Amino acid sequence: MTFADLDPPARLLMGPGPVNAHPRVLRAMATPLLGQFDPEFTAYMNETMALYRLVFQTENRWTFLVDGTARAGIEAALVSLLEPGDKLLVANIGRFGGLLEEIGERCGAEVATVAAPWGEVLTAAQIEAALAAHKPKLFACVHGDTSTTMAQPLEGVGEACRRHGALFYVDATATLGGMDVPVDRWGADIVTAGLQKCLGGPSGSAPITISDRAAEVIAGRRHVERGLAQATGNGRRIASNYFDLAMLMDYWSETRLNHHTEAASMLYAARECARVVVEEGFPARFARHAGCGAAMAAGLSAMGLMLYGDGAHRMSNVTGAFIPEGVDGEAVRGRMRRDYSIEIGTSFGPLHGKIWRIGAMGYNAMRPAVLTTLAALEACLRAEGFAARSGVEAARAALQAGGVG
Ligand SMILES: Cc1ncc(COP(=O)(O)O)c(C=O)c1O
Repeated sequence: MTFADLDPPARLLMGPGPVNAHPRVLRAMATPLLGQFDPEFTAYMNETMALYRLVFQTENRWTFLVDGTARAGIEAALVSLLEPGDKLLVANIGRFGGLLEEIGERCGAEVATVAAPWGEVLTAAQIEAALAAHKPKLFACVHGDTSTTMAQPLEGVGEACRRHGALFYVDATATLGGMDVPVDRWGADIVTAGLQKCLGGPSGSAPITISDRAAEVIAGRRHVERGLAQATGNGRRIASNYFDLAMLMDYWSETRLNHHTEAASMLYAARECARVVVEEGFPARFARHAGCGAAMAAGLSAMGLMLYGDGAHRMSNVTGAFIPEGVDGEAVRGRMRRDYSIEIGTSFGPLHGKIWRIGAMGYNAMRPAVLTTLAALEACLRAEGFAARSGVEAARAALQAGGVG
C-alpha cells in the first residue's frame, strides 16, 4: 500500500470559515521550530502578546494565545471563571450562543438565556432587563454568530454588566480583524477569537484577552500543578487542566512556569496574522471587509436571491442567501466545488437546507474572490435550473462605492 504526497486542490474558501490563509502566514508556519523556553521563542511570545493587544484594542496585560481552535478559547474562558452553581447568562442569537450555554452547563453553572429568533439580534434593553432579572456572575455573548450571519451590537453592554455586577465575555471568533472589536471601549472582561476567519490564518490558535478584573477572579482559583513548585492553592480548582487560565497566565508570564509544549508553528501563524492586521491598519481593513460584504450582498440580490436575516445587523464578512424554491442547495455547492473549486457554506439546525452562507474575509476579502464567486454561483444556479441574472455588475459597483480596489 502506498500513500501519495499531499496534493490538495487549490480551493477558494468562501464559506463562513475557514478561509484561505494569507501567504505570509503560511510562510511563517514553515520557519524553524523552537522550544518554548528558548529566549528567541519567549521573545516571539512577548511580541505576540503585544501584537494582540493592538488587534484587540486593549491595554490588558493578559493577552495571549490558547492552543486549540476557537472553541478552546471559549472553553478556557468559561471553565476558568465558572464554578459549579455560578450563574451564567447567555445572549443566544444562534448556534454559537447555544455552544456558550452548553459549555456553561458542562461547567456546572446555572445557565439562563436571553434569546432572539435566528436572523435577529437582541436590543440593549433586552440585555439589561435579563441582567437585572438574573444577576449573573458572567454574561456571555457572541459578537458575530456565523450560524445566522448576524452581528450583535455590544455598545453599552459593558456598562450594563458593571451596573449588575456581572463579568462580560465576548466570542469574537468570526469578527476579530474584520469588524471593530474595541475590547476596552466595550468594557469586555474576556474576549476570545480564532485565526481562520477575518484574521486570515489556519484554525488552531485562539487569541484571548483578559481584563484585570477577570484575571483577579481567575487568580483566586490558582493551583500550581503537582511537581512544578510548592503545591499551592486557593479557591476551587479550575475543572480543566489544559484550559486552566491561571496556569496559562503563569506560563505566559515572566516566571514561564511550565504547562503545555507550545504549538510553535501556530504561534508563528498567529503572530503573522496580527502583523498583517497591524500593518494594514483598522480603517482600511474594516472598510475592505465592509466593501466586500456589501458587494456580495448586492451581487446575490441582483442575481435574484433573497438575503437572509435583519439587514441592519448583518456581519460584514459573511452573508446568508436563501436557496431558491426547487433548487437543491447541496447540488449547487457540489458544482461550485467540482467545476470552479470554490467552497461556499451550508447551514445548521433550523436553517439547514434553507440558506447558503458565503464569506469574504481575511485574505479572501478582495475583489477577485468576490467577483469569481458570484460569477461561478450564477453559472451553477443556471445549471441547476434557476434562471439567475448576473450579479457581477452590481457587485462591481458596490466594490467601487466601498473603495475596494
Ligand atoms: C462565532 C463562532 N464561535 C466559535 C466557533 C468555533 O470555532 P472552532 O471551530 O475554531 O473551534 C465558530 C466557528 O465557526 C464561530 O463562527
